[in-house]
Amino acid sequence: MKALEGVKILDFTHVQSGPTCTQLLGWFGADVIKVERPGVGDATRKQLVDVEGADSLYFTMLNHNKRSITLNTKNAKGKEVLERLVKKCDVLVENFAPGALDRMGFTWERIQELNPRMIMASVKGFGPGPYADCKVYENVAQCAGGSASTTGFLDGPPVVTGAQIGDTGTGLHLAIGIIAALFQREKTGRGQKVLAPMQDGVLNLCRVKLRDQQRLERGALEEYSQFGEGIPFGEATPRAGNDSGGGQPGRILKCKGWETDPNSYTYFITQAAAWEKICDVIGKPEWKDDPDYAKPRARLDKLTHIFETIEQWTMTKTKFEVMEICNPLDIPVGPILSMKELAEDPSLRETGTIVEVDHPERGKYLTVGCPIKMSDSEVTVVRSPLLGEHTEEVLSAVLGYSAEEIAELKEAGATEVVKKLAAE
Ligand code: COA
Repeated sequence: MKALEGVKILDFTHVQSGPTCTQLLGWFGADVIKVERPGVGDATRKQLVDVEGADSLYFTMLNHNKRSITLNTKNAKGKEVLERLVKKCDVLVENFAPGALDRMGFTWERIQELNPRMIMASVKGFGPGPYADCKVYENVAQCAGGSASTTGFLDGPPVVTGAQIGDTGTGLHLAIGIIAALFQREKTGRGQKVLAPMQDGVLNLCRVKLRDQQRLERGALEEYSQFGEGIPFGEATPRAGNDSGGGQPGRILKCKGWETDPNSYTYFITQAAAWEKICDVIGKPEWKDDPDYAKPRARLDKLTHIFETIEQWTMTKTKFEVMEICNPLDIPVGPILSMKELAEDPSLRETGTIVEVDHPERGKYLTVGCPIKMSDSEVTVVRSPLLGEHTEEVLSAVLGYSAEEIAELKEAGATEVVKKLAAE
């Protein structure tokens, strides 16, 4: 038995934010039925194609544990099928451009009429307000949610991060809302609307930067490197390079081999509690009693010199050696791991965080498995569906259509004939 067993999801999502959410619900055991446009499907199927004729990794890595049904929801017969799906499912998840579902004829009022227990969950770029009608993609959300203005170096332009906090981050927020709504429905018997705007999701993840904005109104941010360097603050939370966000000075430092390996670096935090051990490890025991170095406050205007000195030591070690030496001493450090290193990491394979999946069109590929581990709801990663692979199965087994009715739906252009798979 899985955590969400018995929950049916009408998955009307595409691209990244919505699919992240429904994939997670699938991993928790929900039956996820992905509705796609006949002949086209989710646009990511054919984006960044690396194996000609096969679904892209962009699609496969975001759509595990789902069934795919093709349905033209602008066709009269297709709308009837969608109505049946709405009646049958517990949650409708969508991330269309604002108003698209209404234009299809499926307003929130109509959905409630069809199924008062339905939870309707949406990702939009912005919440209600001046930008509510805008279409939004990842980097726009990172910029509008406060991430870009606070990422990068003080003397450079705003920078977007590689972590997809706008898309995947918002998908995760939406999943949390859906699970809470399912729990509430247990008591009230009613569904509800769940909205996760991407701007709000990014801002939530940038919470500490809004904290700093308010602290800035009361004075300089002393833990920021620029304070020690005597650079005045402006009106807004500045970009802080690789400073750590928690008040303990930290930097990224070179390690042995940095000249040829772009990821031969470590993160190093000069946590106050570990200061004496740091002094010993880097060969500066005299700093322990020196009034210019012994106390955190005294060190603030010397951080650049301190980190340069620590770097002289880290450059004599690999990033893994730094970790082996510092971890037993409770000095917080972390290697900068490349995607190659993560892909090959045996411990991540063992925990199911990196999974090898077999796909009939493209063969074996790696994906990130479920990052949440539950002791009583085990996750098995199942390959993504081909376009419309489960159309007949869902129409007959879930919605009760007969073979003749399915043929009529195809005839009417509500769905399409899907190629049969050779036995896997
Ligand atoms: N049958 C018939 N029509 C369908 C269909 C189906 N099965 N599925 C979708 N469509 C139609 C929609 O009804 C819509 O038609 P309309 O514009 O005539 O109303 C059309 O396809 C396109 O949908 P839309 O969502 O506007 O796609 P887009 O490619 O133009 O925009 C986004 C893509 C991501 C920018 C937009 O969906 C969006 O802003 N979503 C919300 C924010 C978001 O999730 N962004 C991040 C994505 S990772």
